Amino acid sequence: MDEQSDGGQRFDYGAFSFASKDEVLAKSKEFWNPDKTQFWVDSGVPLVIDRREEYFIYDMSGKRLIDVHLNGGTYNLGHRNPEVVQAVTLAMQHFDIGNHHFPSLARTALAEALVASAPPGISKVVYGSGGGEAIDIALKTARHATGRRRIVSIVKAYHGHTGLAVGTGDDRFSKLFLSDRPDEFPHVPFNDLTAMEEVLAGRDVAAVIMETIPATYGFPLPEPGYLEAVKALCERYGSLYIADEVQTGLMRTGELWAITKHGIDPDILVTGKGISGGMYPIACVLVNDRAAGWLDEDGFGHISTFGGAELGCIAALKALEICSRPETRSMVHYISDFVGQGLRRIQTEYPDWFVGIRQNGVVMGLEFAHPQGAKHVMRQLYENGVWAIFSTLDPRVLQFKPGILLKPELAEELLDRVEVGIGRAYREVRGGARPRGVAA
Ligand SMILES: Cc1ncc(COP(=O)(O)O)c(C=O)c1O
Repeated sequence: MDEQSDGGQRFDYGAFSFASKDEVLAKSKEFWNPDKTQFWVDSGVPLVIDRREEYFIYDMSGKRLIDVHLNGGTYNLGHRNPEVVQAVTLAMQHFDIGNHHFPSLARTALAEALVASAPPGISKVVYGSGGGEAIDIALKTARHATGRRRIVSIVKAYHGHTGLAVGTGDDRFSKLFLSDRPDEFPHVPFNDLTAMEEVLAGRDVAAVIMETIPATYGFPLPEPGYLEAVKALCERYGSLYIADEVQTGLMRTGELWAITKHGIDPDILVTGKGISGGMYPIACVLVNDRAAGWLDEDGFGHISTFGGAELGCIAALKALEICSRPETRSMVHYISDFVGQGLRRIQTEYPDWFVGIRQNGVVMGLEFAHPQGAKHVMRQLYENGVWAIFSTLDPRVLQFKPGILLKPELAEELLDRVEVGIGRAYREVRGGARPRGVAA
């Protein structure tokens, strides 16, 4: 940031320069996304992220926030994790995105590391540039392997917004673009095995795609035995099981891949977000031999210029290595116990307001007794220096996602701030206030 000649601050970053936050917001509405920009202003969260480091983000105003949104785990390892920055910076002396048609050092090294990290049976890796593309690859792979077209997901699933992925999700996102296809993408209620069996019994389903804990739905936990039974149904009726670990993978549940806690060996496992180390986009589709057939038959079957970009592979190798360290695992167990206990203590103060805690490791959903409760809490936390986001498909629930390397002192500060924010939101709601800017 530079000093202006009139003494004011100027936000000058070489490639671009702005005089003020107001200018950014105005131009954001003019040239980028008017509705989204206004939504946050109306919601009382007029955030324009400037500096970022560790688990902190700083608004252009200088306001500091502890980040427990982490973009769904993208910043699992913190913002600009120094080890990831170093690995990518070093790599830039030698590599760039690479040529996606040819074998590559970085792509091969990452594929080997991912296969070694994966549940039994996984043998190959296909790359995308983001989670949605990776999900599309997974769905195409399942269709090729089974010769079937239908894909089953849960009601209120969220697997991204690309061509096929969007069909697996809520109508809210598919209908806008005339992309809802209920015939090809049946949705069944979560935790309902009867509905799952009914749809699979037709033996025309290529795959069931399931998040190990559905994030955008507010992290409702699978009932004991549910995922295991879905996998068994897949086997009985010849469908593949796709584990979407875009949010739940990479040690967030205290295991590298959450699905292994259920003893399930998925046919396909998708990772995204955090595998980028928060520094270079990449997403990966891990497949077993049953699914991998097209890679022998026609390796050019899926082409993506940026899929498996070599700098992304290097960021991913470092992220995977950090997540796999024994000390990282211990840290996640410590943080999840500490934060879980703190939240349960806060809950006792507001038993008729803060009505539920859904938790598996540092994957957490906080449930409030109001249809838009998490929006109130989100805003009060923002005011009080914490950034956590409501669940788009269930705004009663706040997504609460502490980082896997969170230091105990910061966890303590976080809990203090959360306690205050939850109390303020309670008084706001009981005083009859309605959340601002909330259409739905
Ligand atoms: C579980 C899950 N799958 C897939 C995606 C899509 O990832 P991306 O936004 O990188 O396309 C997301 C994004 O939020 C997600 O949460």
